[in-house]
Parts: sequence; C-alpha cells; structure tokens
Amino acid sequence: SWKMENFIEKEIIRIRKLVGDKAQVIGAVSGGVDSTVAARLMKEAIGDRFHAILVDTGLMRLNECQQVKETLQQHLSINLTIVDAAELFLSRLAGVVEPEAKRKIIGETFIDLFEKEAIRIEEEAKNTPLSGKVEWFLQGTLYPDLIESLSWKGPSATIKSHHNVGGLPARMMNGQGLKLIEPLRELFKDEVREFGRQLGIHQDLVMRHPFPGPGIAIRVLGEVTPERVEIVRKADHIFISMIKEAGIYDQMSQAYAALDTNRVIKANLTVLGMIILLRAVTSADFMSAEPFEFPFDLLKAIVRRIVNEVDGVSRVAYDCTSKPPGTIELE
Ligand code: XMP
Repeated sequence: SWKMENFIEKEIIRIRKLVGDKAQVIGAVSGGVDSTVAARLMKEAIGDRFHAILVDTGLMRLNECQQVKETLQQHLSINLTIVDAAELFLSRLAGVVEPEAKRKIIGETFIDLFEKEAIRIEEEAKNTPLSGKVEWFLQGTLYPDLIESLSWKGPSATIKSHHNVGGLPARMMNGQGLKLIEPLRELFKDEVREFGRQLGIHQDLVMRHPFPGPGIAIRVLGEVTPERVEIVRKADHIFISMIKEAGIYDQMSQAYAALDTNRVIKANLTVLGMIILLRAVTSADFMSAEPFEFPFDLLKAIVRRIVNEVDGVSRVAYDCTSKPPGTIELE
C-alpha cells in the first residue's frame, strides 16, 4: 500500500528533522513488537541519543525481562537501561483491589521512574557528545490505540483508563516538558509486523502476542501479592508453552492465564485452592475479538497440567466471552 512504500526511510528522515541534532529521546520498551519497532526506528534515526528503558515491574511473565534484555541489547544493539522496580511496584500495590486503582498506581510509578531516568540521562550526558537535553518521549502507539481511546467504548470506557495512549498519562509530557513522539501512529498491527521484519527483528518477536503494561497486576482479580503473581506466571507459562508446542500460537491473537482469587475445593484435599482463568482470542485489531476455538483434548491436557503442577490452584476455566460485550483483559 502507499503507506508501506518507503515508510522506514521516510520515518527516519522525519524523526531526524523533528528531534534535531542535539536533543535526546527516552522511551519505554516492553519486549512487544510495537515498542521494539519504535525503538529500532529511533536507533536508526538518532543512534545513542535514543535511550530505551525497560522497567522490571515484577509483573512480567516468566524469564521475560531477561529475554527482552538479550533481544534489545545483543541482537538489536539498542541503548538499553533496565530499572529493577519489582519491589517498588509490589509494595505500592499492597492492599489495593480496585482495577482502576491498580492501573493508576502502576501508571504513576512508571512516570516517577521515567522522570528519574530522564534526569539521570541528562546528568550523565553532561560534557559528553550526547550533552543534549531529554526533550522527547517515544511511544509505540498504533492507529487502533488512538481510535479506541477516542471512541466511545460502552460502559467500560468510564471504568477503565486507557493504556498505550494513556499508558503513560499526560502528566509525563506536561510535568517534565517532554514532547511525545509516535512513529507508528498511522499503522495497524500487521503493518508494524511487516516493518519489524524489514528492520531485522526476529520472527518470534514480530509475532509475539501483546502484553499489557500493567502486566500480571490486571490478571490477578483482587489484591496483587508476590505469591499470586507467581501462580499466574507458572500457569501462563504452561498455557503458552503448550500452545506453542501444538503449533497454534500464530493462529490466535492473544492468550494468557489469570487468577480468580476466590477459593474452591479440590477433590480429596481439605485445603481450598484458587481458580485459573484461561483466555485466548482471535482478533483483527483488538477492538473486537472472538474466543479461540481450542481442540478440546488439548484444552483438557492444559487444564490437567495446570491443576497438577501449580500449587494453590483447584480449578481451571476457559473464558469464551467475545469482545464486545467482554474485553480481552479481565480488569
Ligand atoms: P481490552 O482488555 O481493552 O484490551 O479489550 C485490548 C488490548 O489492549 C491491551 N491492554 C493494555 N495494554 N496497557 C497496555 O499496554 C493497558 O493498561 C492495557 N489494557 C488492555 C490488551 O492486552 C489487549 O491486547
């Protein structure tokens, strides 16, 4: 299409013009395809004046932080800082059960950390060739993210603050005086994936399912504790591994495990356990979605493994709700 033609070259030129030859840019990376493509473009455009920040929230999946680090640093040579903030996030989330309160705390904690990083980067750059101010903040916002945040989404719009666009709310930009740079704002997911391939990003990463910024925090229904995060991590790892082994990962748009912290009984055991909820959907643009139609034997095999291998879990349920009326995440 017209958009695809020379997009990468044109965008690199546009970024160079916009940022100029002194200013620095910071951006959050998560290991997802959007932030990785955006970061790779910035690296091409302005080299090490772009600083990628990976925040370890303690709410990511099994081994995820380490994998993201290897990909971005070793394979894509992106200038990366990892901020280990697991304890900070988990302590701020202690006792919090309201979904919206969780999102707010997580968003604000991200902002606090980015403000600190922006200051640190400017300090460190003094008297070096990179001595420019940090003026820009990179976001991997896609076209559907913009549309979804602008359009009326039904009752959920009032109870759910928006992510990507709001992934880092306005205070970030206003408070710190950082301007927003969004190289992917006219693109759809499949286009981002195509550019990812053209930029030499590995196929596994290009095809990776999205993962929300607030991570496992919005997949634990109720208070987020380290033990509960661990349970979700183990169940999710079994779920995704078995999906990959069955060769059907690319047939679905997103899949994950979540935890209903209500307690139910398990046969022959006096202890009560919690409920793992599995969700897998197909979707063209994440604005609407259909439940993925699992082969039932595979689904049963997944359930069996989770119940047998993950301590604290008594039951596993598969969510068949479409979006709308549901959403992809539970909170
Ligand atoms: P929903 O639950 O709104 O999800 O149907 C649509 C897509 O957005 C992702 N999502 C988020 N991503 N921060 C993010 O970065 C968030 O707060 C957030 N909430 C939902 C969700 O995983 C799905 O891909």
